[in-house]
Amino acid sequence: MSDRIYIFDTTLRDGEQVPGCQLNTIEKIEVARTLEVLGVDVIEAGFPVSSPGDFQSVVEIAKAVSNPIVCALTRAVEKDIDVAAQSLKFAKRGRIHTGIGTSPYHIVSKLNSNPDEILDRAVRAVKYAKRYVEDVEFYAEDAGRSDNEYLARVVEAVIKAGATVINIPDTTGYCLPGEYGAKIKFLMENVPNVHKAILSTHCHNDLGMATANSLSGALNGARQIEVTMNGIGERAGNTALEEVVMAIKTHHGLPFHTKINSKGIFEASRLVSSLMNMPIQANKAIVGRNAFAHSSGIHQDGVLKNRENYEIIDPVDVGIKESAIILSARSGRAALNHHLTDMGYTLSKGELDDAYARFLVMADERKNINEHDLSELMGDQNSETKSVELELLQVVAGKSTIPMATVHLKIRGESCAATAEGNGPIDACFSAVKKIIKKEFSLEEFLVQTLTRGSDDLGKVHVQLNHKGKMYYGFGANIDIVTASVEALVDALAKVV
Ligand code: KIV
Ligand code: ZN
Repeated sequence: MSDRIYIFDTTLRDGEQVPGCQLNTIEKIEVARTLEVLGVDVIEAGFPVSSPGDFQSVVEIAKAVSNPIVCALTRAVEKDIDVAAQSLKFAKRGRIHTGIGTSPYHIVSKLNSNPDEILDRAVRAVKYAKRYVEDVEFYAEDAGRSDNEYLARVVEAVIKAGATVINIPDTTGYCLPGEYGAKIKFLMENVPNVHKAILSTHCHNDLGMATANSLSGALNGARQIEVTMNGIGERAGNTALEEVVMAIKTHHGLPFHTKINSKGIFEASRLVSSLMNMPIQANKAIVGRNAFAHSSGIHQDGVLKNRENYEIIDPVDVGIKESAIILSARSGRAALNHHLTDMGYTLSKGELDDAYARFLVMADERKNINEHDLSELMGDQNSETKSVELELLQVVAGKSTIPMATVHLKIRGESCAATAEGNGPIDACFSAVKKIIKKEFSLEEFLVQTLTRGSDDLGKVHVQLNHKGKMYYGFGANIDIVTASVEALVDALAKVV
């Protein structure tokens, strides 16, 4: 039986402290409940002394979840620990996470102290926290750049003081995997009482090594890994939950496992991204829009013959219905035939060759090809006009004004119009579009990007719609971000209608 790796999620603490990612208590509870369903072992709910709002959120999260341990962060300061203990009073299982910097940088230039005094403060903080809770985690901040001999002395002393988990953060994301693994190994071999506690990894991603470092830590004896959803967190972020969990699940030979229900990963990822206004890069491992999308002909042919030719993870295992075969000028006959068969066409070899020649001409002109384009390719007369086009858009918005939009669409040549109010100009536009298009769909992704930071920049919008369980992608680009958004929505809807 392989060892259990405990997954400690700090999306709501290390992730939430990123500018622009702040959540209100209701939103934090929604994330915490989702993390509970996902099966995380520990939820770090906040840093209660930092603000009354953070304190209240920890209180409410502690009430809202039953299975995970709820953890509150503190500095090695009595007041912090008092407040953290109070915030955990409703927790079924509460943990105080206290600690102090142990690197020469932190000891001297941050804390203006010396190694012996820091060791003493660490021990006092752990003992103080033990008055309130049995489960005390100690973090040696900037352990990644701390001297291993000194770190071992601190770890031994805090375990003696009662710490149950010892966090070895690579706070600045400095370590290389071999180096971080060696640090954990050194502690496992040189701290006499190490078996009385669990060593934990907490790796930042400044050099893109966070996942590799965490796994290296686990391979050398750590049994808790600290993560955030989508890897959000300070600067370049923290270790991504989805990467660690799927790396462990995919590599059956590793001597450990997690209890995460991986099928909930995609939903949790999208929830965190939308609540925290943190778009996920298209090529992000596991959860990016392109993580299971195949666009080159050779890969498409391979995947259609056997998914495992080009996929190491079954998308279903992370909660994504199926892989996507994207049609473009790079696609081959196999991909075209796959889509046409899905649409109900059966083609002989000669017919497919003809269709493919026409397809390449069309794909060079239009870039990405959708079902509507394929109908046109196959000679469907109704398809020759674009199924949905934006004819006119008028928006009223501003301070002390109820946002309102009038949208005129041409649907298969016929003009239709609607006016609607909304929470903002884009919401008003989308509501007006919904009034015209009488199909059920839900917006799964809405991503706005600008190329430069200038206010005169071109806005690029990506949307993903879910219609009857199938995903439809749309793109719009315009100097006016509201128009770009409606164009993206219409582009996606043209594939549905
Ligand atoms: O990165 C870090 O060192 C931290 C600690 C506060 C645990 O987030
Ligand atoms: Zn951190």
